[in-house]
Order: sequence, then structure tokens, then C-alpha cells
Amino acid sequence: MPTSTPTGWQAWPVTEKAARRHGGLGPHAHGQARERPHGTPGRVSAVIPLPSFAGRAVLVTGASSGIGREAALAFARSGAEVALLARRADALQAVREEALAQADAAGHPATRVLALATDVTRTPQVKAAFAAAAGAFGRIDLVVNNAGVMIPGRVEEIRDRDLRAMLDVNLFGALHVMQQAAALMRRQGHGSIVNVASLGGRRAYSPIGGYSASKFALIGLTEAMRLELDGSGVQLSLVLPGIVDTPMYESGMTQSPELGQIWPRALNMPPQWVVAAIFLAARYGLRELSVPPGAGELSKLLSLTPGLADRLIRAAMSVARRSATRPKPKSS
Ligand SMILES: NC(=O)c1ccc[n+]([C@@H]2O[C@H](COP(=O)([O-])OP(=O)(O)OC[C@H]3O[C@@H](n4cnc5c(N)ncnc54)[C@H](OP(=O)(O)O)[C@@H]3O)[C@@H](O)[C@H]2O)c1
Repeated sequence: MPTSTPTGWQAWPVTEKAARRHGGLGPHAHGQARERPHGTPGRVSAVIPLPSFAGRAVLVTGASSGIGREAALAFARSGAEVALLARRADALQAVREEALAQADAAGHPATRVLALATDVTRTPQVKAAFAAAAGAFGRIDLVVNNAGVMIPGRVEEIRDRDLRAMLDVNLFGALHVMQQAAALMRRQGHGSIVNVASLGGRRAYSPIGGYSASKFALIGLTEAMRLELDGSGVQLSLVLPGIVDTPMYESGMTQSPELGQIWPRALNMPPQWVVAAIFLAARYGLRELSVPPGAGELSKLLSLTPGLADRLIRAAMSVARRSATRPKPKSS
């Protein structure tokens, strides 16, 4: 289990190579191996310093799995009160128990964690979850708007119902959460919302054109709402991850083997990198943070030369395809 100090520093997985090079990055780091996180075989932990959220009330959507689950556990370890939202009540309950155990082990035995089974596509359910969390905690300081789905498919063949399913969660679901959060935080006079979009929402590629379209749309809503919230005391941040090792990526690969050939799997990031970006964006009020850093800025630069961008993406995909289909050397 990652560890936490009273100052809020937490141990996070980084690549094995980076851990060796730095001998770790913070107070816990002595280059020692820690427990491997989900989906990152061969990687060990070192330390990324994270700000403390002790005493804050945090609501995380999509908390039953992947990035949302890791974020919820990290906030609990940091001493925050956490409301967990997702559809699957049993999975949420398991995360709640894990979060309570990790908070206790990190020196926060009184931390409260709520499991609120919620479908973000249903406005009344989102309203009820916000009312329950704000009622229990007295306020909500931070909302991590993270629930999402991906159904891969080529644009030439994409089915309306698949695109609608992605828009329902990634656009309308995220909008319902933004609206509830903004209304509550305006009344409170403070608060922070972090929308988890995607680098795929800055530059699209196949076979995730429909998913990218939903994230482009979410980025549009976010940029406009950020202006609307100007001067309200409510900050709105965008976190844009690249490809992350989570159940979403796994199920995407099952649905479309082509997805596994657009990017060398060894370069997938652990979800904890995105969690670190969420912590930093919320704590320092950053408007936009991509994971890895700089990737979003590179996408914007490349959009000035679409022909060059297409050629670079095709070249990267062809390298990935060759490495995915190359026979693995036999181990002696
Ligand atoms: N993995 C990547 O490579 C990657 C890259 C860039 C951005 N992202 C974004 O990061 C976010 C988290 O993705 P992940 O990779 O952690 O995926 P994940 O492991 O599949 O988790 C998705 C979460 O969203 C929840 N969810 C889905 N539909 C929902 C609905 N209608 N109402 C409430 N909750 C719902 C799921 O819970 P239930 O099934 O229990 O409802 C689950 O907790 C998403 O917005 C995704 O688009 C992921």
C-alpha cells in the first residue's frame, strides 16, 4: 500500500528506471520496491510529493475503478472526507472499505467515506448524491469529475448507439456534475472542480474517434464554464491524460485489437500519475494539466500543421504496430 506522512507526502509508483535513476523523489524514497499497483507489471514505487487535503471534503465520480478509485484512495490517505460515486454499489463498497483502512493506516482514523451509487447520466441521481455528500460533510471543497466510458471503433463504422452512449456519460454526465458542483460552490463561495478529459480530446486518432469527439466536447464546455466562473471563488481545472493502464484500456483492447497497435503498451502510464495531476491542479488552481506534462501543449502546436501531425501519428502507429506484432524473444 502507498504510504503517507503527516505532511501529506505520498509514495507513488513510477517506472522502475526512474526509481533507480532518482533513488526516489521524496521523503520515503530510498529506492526500495513497494507494492505494484494495478496494471503496471514490472514497475516499482518511488515518491511524488503531493499536497495534503486533510480536513477537505472531496467528491469523486467514477470512483469504483481505475483513475477514480486511485484518486479516492489517495484523498482518503491524505485525510480528506470522500464521497464515492459510480453505478456499481458493490464495487463502491469495496473501495470504501479500502479507503477507510488506508486512511486509518495513514493516521486519519476519523476519516469519513460515503459510497453513493449514482448514474451520472441521470440528473436526479446526481442531485441526490450532491445533497447527501454536502449534508454529511457540511460542504464539498473539491469535485473530481472523472466518470467516463470508451467504446472504440472506426468512424466509418461507428454505431449511433455507441457514440450516444459515450456522449451520455462523457459529455452529459460530466455536465450534470459540473452544474451541481458549480451551483453548490457558488453558494459556498469557494470550491474546486477538476474535469478529467483526455489528450484524445485535443487530437483525435483512430480507432477512438467517437471517444475523442466526446472529450473535445467536454473540453469545450469546460473552457466556457471556466470563464463563467471567473471571480466566483470556484476554480475549474482540466486534466488531460494520455493512455493509462486501467480497466477502460483493457476492455478497449478486447473490443478492438487495433487499439493495442497504436501505442506501445510498455509506455502506458499508471493511474497514479493522473492522480498526482488531479492533486496538483486542485491545490494550485491550474487551468490545464496534461499527463505526461507538455503533451497537451505539443498537441496544440501540432494542430497548426495538420499534415505534419497526421504524418507523425501515422509513423508512431506504424512503430507501435511493428512492436506489437514482433515475435517475443524466447527466454532461456
Ligand atoms: N484509461 C485511459 O487511457 C484514459 C486516458 C485518458 C482519459 N481517461 C479518462 O479518465 C476517466 C477514468 O477512466 P479510467 O481509465 O479510470 O476508466 P475505468 O477504470 O473504466 O473507470 C471508469 C469509471 O467511470 C464510472 N462510470 C461509467 N459510467 C458511469 C455512469 N453512467 N455513471 C457513473 N459512473 C460511471 C465507472 O463505474 P461504474 O461502472 O461502477 O459506473 C468507473 O468507476 C474517464 O473519464 C476516461 O475517459 C482515461
